[in-house]
Amino acid sequence: MKDRLQQRIDTALARATRSPAPQQLAEALTYAVNPGGARIRPTVLMQVASACGDPDPQASEAAAAALELIHCASLVHDDLPCFDDADLRRGKPSLHRAYSQPIAVLAGDSLILAAFETLSDITDTRKAIALVRHLARYTGMPNGICAGQGWESEETVDLSAYHQAKTGALFIAATEMGAIAADQDPAPWQDLGAMIGEAFQVADDLRDALYDEQTLGKPAGQDVIHDRPNAVNQFGVGGAIEILQDILAGAIASIPACPGEAALAQLVRKTAEKLTPVTGDSQRVPGE
Ligand code: IPE
Ligand code: IPE
Ligand code: MG
Ligand code: MG
Repeated sequence: MKDRLQQRIDTALARATRSPAPQQLAEALTYAVNPGGARIRPTVLMQVASACGDPDPQASEAAAAALELIHCASLVHDDLPCFDDADLRRGKPSLHRAYSQPIAVLAGDSLILAAFETLSDITDTRKAIALVRHLARYTGMPNGICAGQGWESEETVDLSAYHQAKTGALFIAATEMGAIAADQDPAPWQDLGAMIGEAFQVADDLRDALYDEQTLGKPAGQDVIHDRPNAVNQFGVGGAIEILQDILAGAIASIPACPGEAALAQLVRKTAEKLTPVTGDSQRVPGE
């Protein structure tokens, strides 16, 4: 499954970087996307499509690649000095550190457009438009990742809207777009995406609190530094792990009836195991 995704991503990158592309920006696009991180969003998308029989692999592959390109763009912008000012991403210098701020702004912008161009390759035009609409909705305002980042500039934060937009949006995009790519109604798949997103947010809070920079491949302890509300501060490590398990049970229960229902439940369980940090005593947050 990863290879099909990687091929589609590489096709998009090849198109975006072909001659007469400016060299630094072209290199930066590849730097932002390859090697990837966990690729969890496109994996969820392709697993949902596959649970629905995956009748149109060309569409599910394009949708998965487009979603990952948007995610990578969001990380490039998120690391910029005007947002999180992070020096490290996926174990290497963040893009504006490796290149420059102008190149990072343009690389993020170019990846967003490459994502939509990738969706425009889908031959079934009705499906392509539905996928464009969903990806735009969960990327932009008022419910997408732009909104999620926007909440960080507000005095008063609606925590649930913030988390739903910042982290949940691209997971809802993953489940709904997987269903659309497989010719299914996306609506029944929304809850699964929202709950995977919530679980991912709690797991991310745990990893941010428990792991060091080297293990994470990006700056650690960011929630405390930026004074962001998070599950570990609120409920402690044990409490956060319990919440994570509850959300995952809800996620599995929400999977709509489909041919691959059991396999998908198994995948959510396996992903949860991978996401849940190991909590040895030496890794506990001080004061826990
Ligand atoms: C990081 O997402 C951004 C968040 C929303 C917390 P991932 O942890 O999925 O990042 P990569 O793609 O695996 O590096
Ligand atoms: C990044 O969130 C989320 C988006 C860019 C949508 P964070 O700032 O919390 O994630 P990391 O820790 O940098 O990966
Ligand atoms: Mg951020
Ligand atoms: Mg960040």
